[in-house]
Amino acid sequence: MEESLQMAKRIKKRYPPVHEMTPSEQVGLVREVFATIPRRYDFLNRVFSLRRDVAWRRFAVRKMRFFNTSRFLDVATGTADLAVETVRRHPPVRVAALDFVLEMMAVGRQKIRRKHMADRIRLIQGDALSLPFDDNVFDVAAIAFGIRNIPDRRRALEEMKRVVVLGGQVMALEMNFPRHPLFRRFYDLYLNRVLPRMARLFSRNPAAYRYLGDSIKEFPSPDQFARLMAEAGLTGIEKYSLTLGITYLYIGVKPETKS
Ligand SMILES: C[S@@+](CC[C@H](N)C(=O)[O-])C[C@H]1O[C@@H](n2cnc3c(N)ncnc32)[C@H](O)[C@@H]1O
Repeated sequence: MEESLQMAKRIKKRYPPVHEMTPSEQVGLVREVFATIPRRYDFLNRVFSLRRDVAWRRFAVRKMRFFNTSRFLDVATGTADLAVETVRRHPPVRVAALDFVLEMMAVGRQKIRRKHMADRIRLIQGDALSLPFDDNVFDVAAIAFGIRNIPDRRRALEEMKRVVVLGGQVMALEMNFPRHPLFRRFYDLYLNRVLPRMARLFSRNPAAYRYLGDSIKEFPSPDQFARLMAEAGLTGIEKYSLTLGITYLYIGVKPETKS
């Protein structure tokens, strides 16, 4: 009943393409988009990615190395899937999970309670561009499917680097628009035709999914993004292509010596 009322309150919106927006317009849109889709966010993630999103987060969590403070920072935590998976896989670790959209965090809070993880995961409302933490406190800071929504990506990476310990890891898990021409055409069709139609069936803000598709197309190539991580002062950059390259995991390390 509540669900059908939600659908009845369907939001009729059109968002401009990402490349036509100023950074502050994009941030405003991101806040609006994520405030309107939290209830169906997990469900649609699983459907649209054929549950690959779960495997991608697991892959990232397996690559995490806790060696000093046993603290993990999940930036742009959304509904807290990465935080939950990290606690499950690395039992002694404590997590700070940060996002700037309360509606997404509310779904995350319920999930954390349901899984009895409230003593291990602390949800914090805040901005990835100005992290409310001291320097050198986390072994690992990661952002899953969040960095493409942040226009000032370099600043976000620098902030993550600032708060991890020397030798700590900064990770980004992000969708990628494939480069192979055939796969590109197929994926383009999926993002522009299939995904918006499915979103119309299930989401009260289908235009949000147009934005999400568009933001994937606008995201830098894996090589460009790896270079950006190096420019942010990270070293030993590794990149892993997942599921035919539709997602990449990037890992950089905060150098032991000041740079
Ligand atoms: C696609 S969701 C990803 C959620 C989650 N990490 C996951 O793996 O599903 C992107 C999230 O980034 C958050 N976000 C975007 N820009 C942000 C910023 N500058 N500071 C904090 N959170 C931000 C949004 O509110 C949203 O919850």
